[in-house]
Amino acid sequence: MSNKLPDDVSPETFALHGGYDPARSEGALKPPVFQTSTFVATTAEEMARCFEQAYGLDGQPPRAPDELIYSRVVNPNLQITEERWARFEGAEAAALFASGMAAISTTLLTLLRPGDTVMYSTPVYGGTDYFMEHVLPAFKIKTVSFPVTLSAERIYAKWINMDPRPKVIYLESPANPTLELADLGGMAGAFQGPEGRPLIVVDGTVLGPVFMKPLALGADLVLHSATKSIGGHSDLIAGIVAGPAYLVGQIKAMRTIMGPICDPQTAWLIARSLEDYKVRVEAAQHKALKVARFLQEHDAVHRLYYPGMHPSRDQGERFQQMCSGHGSLMSFRVRGGQEAAYRVLNALRVIKLAVSLGGTESLAEHPRTHTHSDIPLAAQDKMGITPDLIRLSVGLEDADDLIDDLDQALELI
Ligand SMILES: Cc1ncc(COP(=O)(O)O)c(C=O)c1O
Repeated sequence: MSNKLPDDVSPETFALHGGYDPARSEGALKPPVFQTSTFVATTAEEMARCFEQAYGLDGQPPRAPDELIYSRVVNPNLQITEERWARFEGAEAAALFASGMAAISTTLLTLLRPGDTVMYSTPVYGGTDYFMEHVLPAFKIKTVSFPVTLSAERIYAKWINMDPRPKVIYLESPANPTLELADLGGMAGAFQGPEGRPLIVVDGTVLGPVFMKPLALGADLVLHSATKSIGGHSDLIAGIVAGPAYLVGQIKAMRTIMGPICDPQTAWLIARSLEDYKVRVEAAQHKALKVARFLQEHDAVHRLYYPGMHPSRDQGERFQQMCSGHGSLMSFRVRGGQEAAYRVLNALRVIKLAVSLGGTESLAEHPRTHTHSDIPLAAQDKMGITPDLIRLSVGLEDADDLIDDLDQALELI
């Protein structure tokens, strides 16, 4: 598509005008929703050429065809949103999915084959943990975990001694729900040997590219649950992967065959959300910082997990090196164990008891028995998912209202 937008505009400007030419849609300022399953071809020959490209029948890898043919392959709303998102990530290309889990599973099934190994940091979101522990092994793909706090040198030492060496290292950073940062910034330096290196895939859902840019730090691919701050309004489910065109192209080819593509209406909603993405995440962070400072000082709270406020020196250094902001997700441990945590959750009046994060409404939950409950308790203990842990996603309510709400709930402990 062509419009008069200069090439070098910033992601925020591109999110409003990029990837869309009003002249091709009756001058509509906003892109229409292309609510269509299929597209009319100009000629039978042209359509045959597109299928050759989609299936790789022309001797090249399967790829997105030159023309639109069918909405499981691609649709204009996806093209617009993917182009706009790629600009935020500083990536060549992006691919939208029907959910974050669809993005994660399709990406890993594109990169791995039976007999391969993937190393992954823990903790990770419960669904990802289930995929690593139960689904990939059923396809004869070995999965080996390590704590997210491990240094890049120690990850390398594990990797180099494995036979076969893991093809992919998967990092969720910051980790959900302990908000600890992986040593992504150290990976390029640690993996410099002649043995080559694995592909590094990062789930960057928690901070997003406004506060951390995994690709600039050396990751090969970055993915997100777009259900969270990208959609941002708790009204859709989607996922997105970004990275170099050659890898994203392979993932799109798998997406065409497996079918977990995002629908046009959801892609349109995400494009709408990208218009104020940066403003929203910065505003939520501003409120979250006030809430975090309140929790840190409260007698009933004995530990706060929030990027940039971690007591360990290592985590502090990683934050300084890799992040430009704290984001709006935090977890905290209350005195009195699970019973006290439940009492707080049940007493909240403004903050809603719901799983998910990154939306305009503040949400809280109990990772041990809710989002991460499939992980065996002994493993949860090791990961820091303790019975007294509450996860809180701060939205756009007035920060003082949120603090008052937490204060009255914590009074009950
Ligand atoms: C860090 C992270 N990654 C991935 C997912 C999965 O995303 P979705 O629910 O959109 O499939 C979640 C969901 O909570 C998450 O928190």
